Amino acid sequence: MALPMRSVITGSGIALPQHLVTNDRLARIMDTSDEWIRTRSGIEQRYFAGPGLGSAELGSMAAEAAIRDAGLKPEDIDVVIFATMTPDHVLPGNGPLLQKRIGLRNVPTFDIRQQCSGFLYGLDLGDSLIKSGKFERVLLVGAETHSGFMPWDQGWRVVLGLSDDEPDEAEKSWNTQSRDRTVLFGDAAGAVVVERREQGAAGLLRTRLYSDGGVADALTMRGASFKQRPFVTKEQIAAGETIPVMNGREVFKTAVTLMPQAVRDVCADEGVTIEELDLVLVHQANLRIIEGVQKQLGLPAGKVPHNIERYGNTTAATLPLLFHECRQNGLAGPGALIAFTALGSGLHWGAALYRM
Ligand code: ACO
Repeated sequence: MALPMRSVITGSGIALPQHLVTNDRLARIMDTSDEWIRTRSGIEQRYFAGPGLGSAELGSMAAEAAIRDAGLKPEDIDVVIFATMTPDHVLPGNGPLLQKRIGLRNVPTFDIRQQCSGFLYGLDLGDSLIKSGKFERVLLVGAETHSGFMPWDQGWRVVLGLSDDEPDEAEKSWNTQSRDRTVLFGDAAGAVVVERREQGAAGLLRTRLYSDGGVADALTMRGASFKQRPFVTKEQIAAGETIPVMNGREVFKTAVTLMPQAVRDVCADEGVTIEELDLVLVHQANLRIIEGVQKQLGLPAGKVPHNIERYGNTTAATLPLLFHECRQNGLAGPGALIAFTALGSGLHWGAALYRM
C-alpha cells in the first residue's frame, strides 16, 4: 500500500534587480514624499529592473538559487509553476521561458495568474500535483517586474540614478496622477522547490483558497484587453489605462478582514490554535495591513515579520521572498508552525499552514 505523502519545501532562493530606488528618488519625479509613502504604506525603498530585464529572467535567477539550495540540479525538476502578473509576453508564458533559460528537461510548465495570491495558489497546485502521484519535485516561482507599468518618461533616468535632471512640470504632473499606485510596487523574484516526502511532521498541512469575481473591479487594469481591436490603443496609453487601478480603501478593509479569517480557517481545519503559530507570513502590500492582520489575530509583532520597507509590494514574489529571509535568519527554524496568507486582485485570497 502506498504511504501517505507530504509536500515539503526543500529549497528557496530569491533574486533582486540591481536598481535600489528610495522614496526620495521618486519624490523627484512626482508630487510625493518619503513621509507620505512611509506613513501610508511602510515602504522605504524598492528595487527596479533596468530595461531588458523581465520577470522570466528574474524568476530564473531565483529558481536556480532554490534548486541549488535544495541540493538538486535543474534536470531533477518534474514540473514548473510560474506565478506572475507581469510576464515577459502575453504569449508564451514565463514557464517555458524559464525552462529554456535554466536548462530544464521537457517537463510541463504552468503559468498562473492569481496576482498577490499566486504563491499560495501555486503551493496548493504543487501539493495537488505531488499528492496525485504524478510528480515528485515541483519548482514554484513568483516573480514580477512591475516597472513595466510605470508611465514615466524622462523620470526613469532620475529614478535609476542615471541623471539628476528632474523631469519638466508636464511630466511631473502626469507622473503624479498615478502616484497612489506607482510608489507601492517593486520588482523581485522568489522561488521554492517542493518535494514529495513520506508523511512526517514537516510539510504543507492545509490550504484554503478563495476567489470573488464580484469585486474584480476593485483592482484591475482596464487598458490592454482582447475584447477590443487592437488589444491596446494609443488613447489608452495616453489615458494611463495600462496602469492598474485600485480602490485602495476598499481593498485595505477587505484585506484586514479576509486574511485573518483565512488563517483562522486553516488553523481550525488542522485543529491548532492561533497561539500555536510561530509565524504568520502576510502578503506584503502595506505595513498597516500587515499590522492590522497581526492585531486581528491577537499575535505579538515578532510573529508577523515584514520586509515591505525594503522591497515594496512585489505581488507574487512577496511570500517566497519573506519565507526565504525567515529561513535565513532562523525565524523559520525546524519545527516552526507557519501560516502564509495573501489577498489581491481577483479577488483571490487564502491561507496555507506549513510545518518546518
Ligand atoms: N504621495 C502623496 N500623496 C498621495 C499619494 C502619494 N504617493 N498617493 C495618494 N496621495 C494622496 C491622495 O491624493 C489623497 O489626497 P486628498 O486627501 O487630498 O484627496 C491622500 O493622499 C489620501 O489618499 P488615500 O488613497 O485615501 O490614502 P490611503 O491612506 O487609503 O492609502 C493606499 C492608500 C496606500 C493605496 C492604501 O489604501 C492601501 O494600501 N490599500 C490596499 C492596497 C492593497 O492591498 N492592494 C492589494 C495588493 S496589490 C495587487 O493585488 C496587485
